[in-house]
Amino acid sequence: MSKNYNISVIKGDGIGVEIVDEAIKVLKTIEDKFDIKFNFKDYLMGGCAIDATGNPLPDETISGVLNSDACLFGAIGGPKWDKNPRELRPESGLLRFRKEMGVFANLRPAVVYDELIDASSLKPEIIKGVDIMVVRELIGGIYFGEPKGKTQDKGWNTMVYTVEEIERITHVAFKLAMKRDKRICSIDKANVLDVSQLWRDTVEKIATQYPEVELSHMYVDNAAMQLIANPKQFDVMLTGNIFGDILSDEASMLSGSIGLLPSASTGLKTAVYEPIHGSAPDITGLGIANPIATISSASMMLRYSLNEEKAADAIDTAVKKALKDGYRTKDLAQFDAKEVVSTSQMGDIISKIINN
Ligand code: IPM
Ligand code: MG
Repeated sequence: MSKNYNISVIKGDGIGVEIVDEAIKVLKTIEDKFDIKFNFKDYLMGGCAIDATGNPLPDETISGVLNSDACLFGAIGGPKWDKNPRELRPESGLLRFRKEMGVFANLRPAVVYDELIDASSLKPEIIKGVDIMVVRELIGGIYFGEPKGKTQDKGWNTMVYTVEEIERITHVAFKLAMKRDKRICSIDKANVLDVSQLWRDTVEKIATQYPEVELSHMYVDNAAMQLIANPKQFDVMLTGNIFGDILSDEASMLSGSIGLLPSASTGLKTAVYEPIHGSAPDITGLGIANPIATISSASMMLRYSLNEEKAADAIDTAVKKALKDGYRTKDLAQFDAKEVVSTSQMGDIISKIINN
């Protein structure tokens, strides 16, 4: 009998719809090939949810995702909602969603594909072979700390972490490092911030439980510089919410296209898989968005939530082959393209490779 998984799907806004459709196409190919059955169910979040219900995160979405085995997510946001009051912005829905799902660990790989080595703005010798995993704490820190607020002449947020919050994300990073190159660099601002000193002390304490893993610490400003100067020195980068937000965007650019990189958010409840890029309103509906980040997110979902390693490998191999064969969406057209293809053609090509 085939295995059955309930997958909640949040396409969201902008290109979210187009790219998630391609990931679903690829997952349907996986069904036939690996005797797996996915039950997909759509939910609203972000701008589309505001338009339909007046709420960026309807209760139905929360309960539906909580009752599913994993969630595949596209992107949210767009200029249409940018002027809304904060609680009626798509981003508020996303932050509350992360909190509701308890996804404290956000894994953002930054991998450089050999085929696209020229797509990066950095020199090939600097980035060849880069394979970094940014582990970002996602439901704490300055994004959520109290007090926060704004008056006419003052605005404030609070960067706060408890030992417990630091411990649990640190364990995630160390467990991942054990499966990788066994090196962690923890990023903080302990020369200035008390919260960072607590972060550093706590990471050091947890590190004693993983003697095989080599731990180093770096201040965030230096890390931003080192990522560009010598990215190969990093294996796992462990960091808090806002530093991880910034550094993961920077790390993504090592690979040349933000359209290639997936992410996983895991923690206490249902895990969420999404591309690291946004909803790209400027190219919505043109059929030129790169679906690879979302297709690779589906692969992460198979690997981390459903334990379908072979199916995940099949997707990863197919993505590499499509790139190797010279298929490129428009964002990468100038890098050794043999054929420039649309969003849906890229989904077709990857599906076809899986089927062969
Ligand atoms: C990200 C995004 C979000 C964040 C925004 C959209 C709230 O930049 O996922 O990195 O800041 O976490
Ligand atoms: Mg970000």
